[in-house]
Amino acid sequence: MNTEESIQRGFADQQRHSAAELYDAAFGAKLSIAIPNTARRIAVLRQGIESSFSFVAVSDGHLVGIAGFKTAHGSFTGGITFRLLKETLGLLGAIRAFLVLSLLERKCVSGQLLMDGIAVSPKMRGGGIGTRLLHRLIEYARNEGYQSLRLDVIDTNPAARRLYERVGFTLVRTESFVYLKWLLGFEAATQMQYTLNVEA
Ligand SMILES: CC(C)(COP(=O)(O)OP(=O)(O)OC[C@H]1O[C@@H](n2cnc3c(N)ncnc32)[C@H](O)[C@@H]1OP(=O)(O)O)[C@@H](O)C(=O)NCCC(=O)NCCS
Repeated sequence: MNTEESIQRGFADQQRHSAAELYDAAFGAKLSIAIPNTARRIAVLRQGIESSFSFVAVSDGHLVGIAGFKTAHGSFTGGITFRLLKETLGLLGAIRAFLVLSLLERKCVSGQLLMDGIAVSPKMRGGGIGTRLLHRLIEYARNEGYQSLRLDVIDTNPAARRLYERVGFTLVRTESFVYLKWLLGFEAATQMQYTLNVEA
């Protein structure tokens, strides 16, 4: 039987490791520039992700999707501090990771909820989970009184961009990283936004 996944706010503490693995399966290639060793990267994620800044999809008790978000009060990956990096990677590894992660960091703007990564388990992609997580984030943004939901998508991920456009996100601007392509692996990131009809 194919039961529909449930979408809920946050994950249970015993799902923390699965959450880190799921996030790494989606973003590991990008994060490996900051933390090349997979086991250490997952260890950092496991300790540094904040459940309360996420919505997750659960199927038969297994975590199959995550959408993180960032507000002025914190973010899904906000627990990845220099201290945690230093404890896990040592001083030199922490400095490297911190510098690369700072380049990828996005700042919050007043009235805007920021998406902090969306990932669906590789086996489950293409089945509508990503769309449902995005709709849940939009609903949350609306209920919390935000005027818009913003995300960034890199130029090497046109499929994700198509998905965002289908859900109703529109292009805001594209930021060039040409001079950092050798390091980051992409040369442009496009900011997209879903505008909410907030009553005056
Ligand atoms: C992007 C992602 C979250 C979408 O979740 P999903 O559950 O597959 O999405 P849905 O089933 O609701 O929608 C499928 C759409 O997602 C897009 N998509 C992006 N990457 C995909 C992938 N690896 N497999 C299947 N669809 C993908 C396709 O455009 C597809 O639309 P189409 O039917 O017009 O081809 C998921 O594919 C994923 O985790 N990708 C890797 C991480 C990533 O790229 N995150 C976004 C960074 S901005």
